[in-house]
Amino acid sequence: MRVGILGSGLMGAKLGTIWARAGHEVVFSYARSEQKLQKLARDAKGNARAGTPREAAAEADALLLAVHWSRLDDVLKQAGSLSGKVIVTCSLPMNADDTDLVVAHTSSGAEELAKKIRKARVVSAFGTVPSEVLFGVFEARRKANKPSLVYCGDDASGKKIAAQLIRDVGFDPVDAGPLRIARYTEPFTLLIARLAYEGDGGPELAYRFERFGEKGSR
Ligand SMILES: NC(=O)c1ccc[n+]([C@@H]2O[C@H](COP(=O)([O-])OP(=O)(O)OC[C@H]3O[C@@H](n4cnc5c(N)ncnc54)[C@H](OP(=O)(O)O)[C@@H]3O)[C@@H](O)[C@H]2O)c1
Repeated sequence: MRVGILGSGLMGAKLGTIWARAGHEVVFSYARSEQKLQKLARDAKGNARAGTPREAAAEADALLLAVHWSRLDDVLKQAGSLSGKVIVTCSLPMNADDTDLVVAHTSSGAEELAKKIRKARVVSAFGTVPSEVLFGVFEARRKANKPSLVYCGDDASGKKIAAQLIRDVGFDPVDAGPLRIARYTEPFTLLIARLAYEGDGGPELAYRFERFGEKGSR
C-alpha cells in the first residue's frame, strides 16, 4: 500500500517506519524540519521518502493523521483534497496542555474530523496505545498472543485497509463498530495513558481482550 503520514512525531514517525519495514510505500510529512522528515525516510530502511502533506496525500491508499488537535485545520489545509481517501486517525481531541479531552460524550475527535472532511473515509485506530510500545509490538508480531487494538469507522472498505495496517504492526484488530464508538475509545486512552505514564511498569503498554464461555472459545 501507499501510506501517507500526516504528522511525523512520536506516533507518525514510528508507525511510518514500521509500515515501511513491513513493505509499504511511505511518505513522511508535516514536521517543523524538512531534515527530520528526510532522516526518518532514510532511517526507515524501506520504501520511504519525505514529502509535503499534499504529496503524502496525493496517491495514498491510506493516510495516518497523527497531529496535535490544535494542528488539525492546518494539516488538513496543507493536505488539500482528501476526497475518497482512507484517513486513519490516532489524533485525540486534547486541550493545549494535554490534560483533558475537549470533545467527549456527545461527539469524539474522530467524528469531528469526519465532519471536516465529509468525502473522506475516516477510521479511528492506534490512538489507544502509547507510541513507546509500537516497536515492541512489531518485533513480537510473529508470536501467538498478540495485543488487541480497537478501531472503528463507518466505511467498510476503509476499515478493511485499517485492519490490515493494524495487523502489519503486530496487533490483533478488534472492530468496535461505527465511528461514533470513538466516544468510548478516546476516553479509554486516558486510562491507558495513566497506566503507561503514571504507573510503575513503564510506557511500553498494550492491552488484550479475552473472551470466556462458549462464544469465546477459539
Ligand atoms: N504520543 C503518543 O503516545 C500518542 C498515543 C495515542 C494518541 N496520540 C495522539 O496522536 C497525535 C500525535 O501525537 P504525537 O505524540 O505523535 O505528537 P507529536 O510528537 O507532537 O507529533 C506531531 C507532529 O506534528 C508536527 N508539527 C507540530 N506543529 C507543527 C507545525 N506548526 N508545522 C508543521 N508540523 C508541525 C510535529 O513536528 P516536529 O516533529 O517538528 O515536532 C510532529 O511531527 C496527537 O493527537 C495525540 O493526542 C499520541
